[in-house]
Amino acid sequence: MTQITRREEGLAAVVLAAGQGTRMRSDRAKVLHPVLGRSMAAWPVEAALDAGAARVAVVVGHQADEVREALEAEFPDRDLIFPLQERQNGTGDAVRHARDATEGADSVLILCGDTPALDADTLRGLLHTHRQQERVLTLLTFELDDPTGYGRIVREGGRVAGIVEHKDATEAQRAIREVNAGVYLVRRDLLFSALDRVGADNAQGEVYLTDVVGILASDDESVGACVLDDPTVVSGVNTRAQLAALEGAMLDRLRTRFMEAGVSMHAPETVRIEHGVRIGADTVLGPGVQLLEGTVVGEGCFVEAGCVLRGCTLADGVHLKPYVVAEDAALEDGVVAGPFSHLRPGSVLRRGAKVGNFVETKKTVIGPGSKANHLAYLGDTDVGRDVNVGAGTITCNYDGANKHRTVIEDEVFIGSDTQIVAPARLGKRSTIAAGTTVTRDVPDGALAVSRTRQDNKEGYYERHRRPREEARARAKREGN
Ligand code: UD1
Ligand code: CA
Repeated sequence: MTQITRREEGLAAVVLAAGQGTRMRSDRAKVLHPVLGRSMAAWPVEAALDAGAARVAVVVGHQADEVREALEAEFPDRDLIFPLQERQNGTGDAVRHARDATEGADSVLILCGDTPALDADTLRGLLHTHRQQERVLTLLTFELDDPTGYGRIVREGGRVAGIVEHKDATEAQRAIREVNAGVYLVRRDLLFSALDRVGADNAQGEVYLTDVVGILASDDESVGACVLDDPTVVSGVNTRAQLAALEGAMLDRLRTRFMEAGVSMHAPETVRIEHGVRIGADTVLGPGVQLLEGTVVGEGCFVEAGCVLRGCTLADGVHLKPYVVAEDAALEDGVVAGPFSHLRPGSVLRRGAKVGNFVETKKTVIGPGSKANHLAYLGDTDVGRDVNVGAGTITCNYDGANKHRTVIEDEVFIGSDTQIVAPARLGKRSTIAAGTTVTRDVPDGALAVSRTRQDNKEGYYERHRRPREEARARAKREGN
């Protein structure tokens, strides 16, 4: 998807992310809202890094610490810096705060933190045009039938002469359909010298970054625009409805890419795939499947309808029947699970293991070829190879204060409705009789039975049930 671009020491990026985003009606800063499993601001930051920015300065204000922590966690090894803009005095003021942070760079790429669909390919196109045309400033623009709210691109003799914000525009200027996308590439020295000359004498009383365009154009510097065909990539999020729509468009793009790479999907519009997910060729995803946060699926897997996987690793040829829910679980080649299995964190299913309906596992390793086909809870358990876990087997791993482990060695056979009170070890090839409550270790090869012997009382029906039934029938006939 993204080709490797060499890191350009001369290029720094500035991402504007200080605003609150009041129209989200949220206690959380807008750029922290998740988009396909990561914070909104992480998307433009990644696009800038992928396009070659050696350093990214994220201008923060609202919930500055939270925004910084989220991005540092997302990009632990990258050069991110977080200038603080305490009062939001406008986009020009925000960029002024990134003056020190971009020291040493020749060019600055400026983006907004609320445009998650912006991709590195679009930025590479901007860099390419900028260099080819030997410009000092290039910005992204697009055309809209209804340009209300956007800054309008004012051209003179076809050349970009400046930007007028909607609130400051004349009637004639408001008729201009070409608008500013808010993405710029500009020579650093000229950016800051122009910003020094920007005032706040406008309808909003703010320092507009857009004024830099007019200043450099009137200085006869070479200023130009890249007009985008598809404005989706620079769409900003202001409301939750816009967030949902944009996330849908990004998801669509992602699904198409996976299908092109050999993944099949039934009812693809119902399939959710989040950031960082990988899927091998010839894997088939059923309707409503959700592959969340960092899930990796190998080749030739079949993930049937409604499965929800978070942070899971599936090797090749894994078959998940419908409605498996799994988190931080690892499934080796040829594992079969479901329908309705719940694999909780720390579950490891070795090669060819099988778990069936209503089986829950947690911090449990199930060895190669072992089976738990129906109704079981296996927690804090190590299961060896070729073990049969009968229906209704429960590991009692919690005594109210501590968790204890259960070890089930190779080729153990566990009959139905068995409780294993941990800590316990079931020795190799031992057999646990149905209905047993295991409270002590079982030696290798032994049979463990713990249930009262069956006692058959002959003639019970004739002596007890029939007289009762006859009495009831008589009472009914006599009408009382
Ligand atoms: C801006 C542009 C407009 C363009 C539009 C595209 C200006 C003056 N106008 O308008 O020409 O068409 O983007 O979406 O630049 N921010 C800060 N600190 C501030 C102000 C803003 O960090 O003091 C951040 C915001 O959090 C946001 C971004 O900058 O991420 C853009 O600000 P916003 O107020 O949304 O600008 P627009 O009015 O949309
Ligand atoms: Ca905006």
